[in-house]
Amino acid sequence: SASIGKTTTTRNISRRLEEGGYECVIFWGSQSGTAERFAETLSRECYLHFGINALVADLSEYDAESIARVQPNHFVIFLLSTYGEGDPSDNTSGLWEWIKQIRDKGREIGGLRYLAFGLGNSNYKHYNRVLDVVADALDAASASALMPRQKGDDANGATEEDFQTWKDDVFALFRSLGYGEQEVAYQPTVTVDFTGQELQGETDIMTSLHHQQSTTNSAIVPLVIKKAHELFSRGDRNCMHLELDLGNSDIVYKTGDHIGIWPSNPGEEVDRLLDALGVQHRRQETLTITSLNRSLKLKAPSPTTLEIVIRNYLEICGPVARKTVLDLSQFAPTPAARATLLAFGQDRARYERFTAGTHITLARLMQFASPNKTWDSLPLSFVIENLLALQPRYYSISSSSVISPRRIAITALVVNKPLPGESPATIHGLTSNYLLSNSALASNADVPLPTYQRISTDAHGTVPGTRILAHIRKSKFKLPITSSTPLILISAGTGFAPFRAFLQERAKLHALGKPVGKIILFFGCRNHNDFIYRDEIEKNQLQLGDNLEVLTAFSRAQGERKVYVQERVEECAERVIEALDQGANMYICGKASMAREVDGRLEDAAGKWKGLADGEVKAWVEGLKKRGKWKADVWG
Ligand code: 2AM
Repeated sequence: SASIGKTTTTRNISRRLEEGGYECVIFWGSQSGTAERFAETLSRECYLHFGINALVADLSEYDAESIARVQPNHFVIFLLSTYGEGDPSDNTSGLWEWIKQIRDKGREIGGLRYLAFGLGNSNYKHYNRVLDVVADALDAASASALMPRQKGDDANGATEEDFQTWKDDVFALFRSLGYGEQEVAYQPTVTVDFTGQELQGETDIMTSLHHQQSTTNSAIVPLVIKKAHELFSRGDRNCMHLELDLGNSDIVYKTGDHIGIWPSNPGEEVDRLLDALGVQHRRQETLTITSLNRSLKLKAPSPTTLEIVIRNYLEICGPVARKTVLDLSQFAPTPAARATLLAFGQDRARYERFTAGTHITLARLMQFASPNKTWDSLPLSFVIENLLALQPRYYSISSSSVISPRRIAITALVVNKPLPGESPATIHGLTSNYLLSNSALASNADVPLPTYQRISTDAHGTVPGTRILAHIRKSKFKLPITSSTPLILISAGTGFAPFRAFLQERAKLHALGKPVGKIILFFGCRNHNDFIYRDEIEKNQLQLGDNLEVLTAFSRAQGERKVYVQERVEECAERVIEALDQGANMYICGKASMAREVDGRLEDAAGKWKGLADGEVKAWVEGLKKRGKWKADVWG
């Protein structure tokens, strides 16, 4: 949390910069921690390369108004994330209000000098809106942008690379402003030591959960898999239905909430990294990690073991960032390995072609560059610093808390995407395969073992067990309290998950004799094979009768025209709009690109059927969203 290692004494940023002898402040506004991490990296590099003292600050810890008083001998750097509907993160709300005031009152803040980078995802409609709104308002208020704003795009996982590009430009700017630059050797931010002693107590992930606890609102608990089966299986895609027992844990959930799953890395990849580092024999040794910078959060608990750090706390299966490739080169075990890394690292286009074709991880890259020699001089601190902390993955819960209060269902597409080109390699979705492996290991689950499955055991036979670590994240994707409110449910693929719960709940209310409003379900999938929960939907139709209408769109059915769910919605737009006008609630769940298409078709249709101009359509949509009548649960 933001209060760890907090040294803030004033909420006035201008005063804080003066008193602390800082040249600039790097404000981060984000929920997931990426912008915070970027701010820390940037601050460190500003100091190492240019001797610039940059204060890293959580936006919520300062009064936004005091930004106006930052003197021209200082400057302000903003790193701002945009979420879902173009919203700022929680810690940006103060800045957001202030920016609107500046804009609406036409204020002048001519003395302010600033730089801005945004984090967003172009699959979403309001791509980097927070950055644009803030920078537009500052520009209109005559603040000087030292450099044009730049946007990071997570759509193709390029945020890291876009940030790197922006950072290069920032450093070029510093040079042009006359800051002297120095070459710097690697300086660790953490120290990692083997203690030579056995770790006391259980060396189990379950015992070190407290480490992650601070980042979630609900407790992280181990849940037992009670049931698991395949919903469909075809080629590189298969979809699983899992049921997790809440047992007597304190966890409660509500229909429409999300469950965060904490995966662990497959044994094969843990081994690969240990092998590449030449530390396979030390995997079980006790290790202490100490931060050299009090404001930096440790990625793993300490003391622990090397194996636990690698298996449970670091994102070792992700593609390696170009910056890491370059930094890694100084530790290469052979001149040839160094040359290989530099050749890839120095050429963005070449690097992108290479990673697109290989999705190469740190360990795979190390082995590729140096097939015969281990990386004995690569410090473990470098590995911990350069790999991301392992994050939970969120799934929309597919069970109803009314019908199944102590058992959570998950509907997960298991991702095993073959890489483009000649390579026989495959990208394995970490969490979905983790779920699949654990289900297969669960004694009471009936999951057949697909041939491509990666079991999370390692050479030492450690089986992670059949408990899944998870926590609940509350959502606003909730059914209306009144059962007679009509519903419009729009989904494609596993986006149907929360609607399974919605339908069960409405069917139950109907059976109890409650008045139930009309439901129109739009569902898109490839063909009849991946029409998930079809039997259940048919049962719901029998239960609900005319109250449930199901409209399907098949995108790859044999001998049929390709139809996407948004086209089906467009065909029925008049009815959908009429239902909304009569008080229906509309829910959209699935990929962001699908939701954006649906939004677009509905807006066009509203203009047409209601005879509204663009601005009026916008106001109509905003009004519905404000009243909770138009809700979305989407992912990138
Ligand atoms: P496709 O795979 O044939 O392109 C579940 O994955 C369903 O969602 C599939 O039918 C898939 O179609 C479809 N889908 C993928 N992208 C979509 C988009 N942008 N809009 C609507 N449907 C989409």
